[in-house]
Amino acid sequence: MRIIYDSKTGLGKKFAEKLPYSVQPVSEPLLGPCILITRNEGLGLIPKPTQRFLKQYSALVRGVVINGNKRFGRFYCAAGPKIERHYRVPVIRNIEGEGIDTDVQVVVEFLQELESVKGDM
Ligand SMILES: Cc1cc2nc3c(=O)[nH]c(=O)nc-3n(C[C@H](O)[C@H](O)[C@H](O)COP(=O)(O)O)c2cc1C
Repeated sequence: MRIIYDSKTGLGKKFAEKLPYSVQPVSEPLLGPCILITRNEGLGLIPKPTQRFLKQYSALVRGVVINGNKRFGRFYCAAGPKIERHYRVPVIRNIEGEGIDTDVQVVVEFLQELESVKGDM
């Protein structure tokens, strides 16, 4: 299991690096199952690098963490439901900035569950 990130200003990368798994950017080839830490563009749009990545690899992506900012109001993490609809990848968690301990805990539990139920490494 790998953690992939699409991070423009580095907050998503910081969150990815808090997780006890190997981490790589969205621009690199993917060799096995992963979760994706991504962000929002515009008003709740899916960032282009994330679109390209999901188009190629959505079958290997077990879930997505959306990194947003509550100042965007009703568009907070609005890329998430779009990813679920277009690419059939579930949202694990919405986070702000580099995330808090509870966010890390929720995502780690999601990953542990995947590994125990499916043996999905
Ligand atoms: C141009 C632009 C548009 C954004 N639009 C949204 C948005 O619609 N909803 C939201 O929750 N956050 C939005 N954000 C906030 C980013 O998702 C947030 O800053 C995120 O933490 C950036 O992650 P990164 O540091 O990994 O690049 C936007 C940020 C930028 C720069």
